[in-house]
Amino acid sequence: MFNLILFGPPGSGKGTQSAKIIEKHGLKHLSTGDLLRSEISRQTALGIEAKKFMDKGELVPDEVVIGMISTVIDANPTCSGFLFDGFPRTSAQAEALDKLLEFKKCTINVMLALEVGEEEIVQRILLRGKTSGRSDDNNESIIKARIKEYKDKTEAVADHYRQFDKVVMIEGEGTVEEIFEKLDVEIVKRIPAKEQEASTLND
Ligand code: AP5
Ligand code: MG
Repeated sequence: MFNLILFGPPGSGKGTQSAKIIEKHGLKHLSTGDLLRSEISRQTALGIEAKKFMDKGELVPDEVVIGMISTVIDANPTCSGFLFDGFPRTSAQAEALDKLLEFKKCTINVMLALEVGEEEIVQRILLRGKTSGRSDDNNESIIKARIKEYKDKTEAVADHYRQFDKVVMIEGEGTVEEIFEKLDVEIVKRIPAKEQEASTLND
């Protein structure tokens, strides 16, 4: 199994790049933001509770997202690996993820961390807010709250994986294609040969 964390602040391009990575390498994309928005649109109890936090730009409680991730990992026993997008976002989530993977006798292979300046992030999110329908995208003070949560609680997750020498920083400004090429170089270096063969056959 090859497991990758795509890390970075809100609006840094995690979702955009995830789509390209899964297309090429066939990993299972796991975005906690997308999973939570799906719960909201289905008006589940979990979604209704999570929305209260998301609308303020705050993180949803750890036990909620850890439970969701655990369910999806269990539901995909045969996949060639996971691409985690927007998870883990706290040290507690990182520790829980390590344990869940250990239970499956695998690990995180690499964390690729997108670096994008704050001004660029705010502009990108406001632009998307014109059409995305995301309630946390079109209000600058909520965007700032998301960035503050990232600095206060999420940046430490990179330190967690840095102690195992698993973090690679990637310049996240430029064209989508340029950034994808930089990410892909790091993935190809590490992905096991068997999985590279499978993804080439799928091309
Ligand atoms: P989530 O959905 O994860 O949002 P986010 O991390 O805040 O980031 P985005 O999804 O907005 O950005 P992105 O990095 O995916 O960038 P994208 O590719 O879309 O989380 C939302 C909320 O859910 C959180 O605030 C929290 O409440 C809750 N939540 C989620 N996970 C949680 C967890 N684990 N624990 C607790 N709570 C959790 O790009 C952004 C825009 O930029 C797009 O319009 C895109 O087209 C554009 N763009 C992309 N690349 C480029 C480029 N190179 N140049 C110019 N524009 C670009
Ligand atoms: Mg996203």
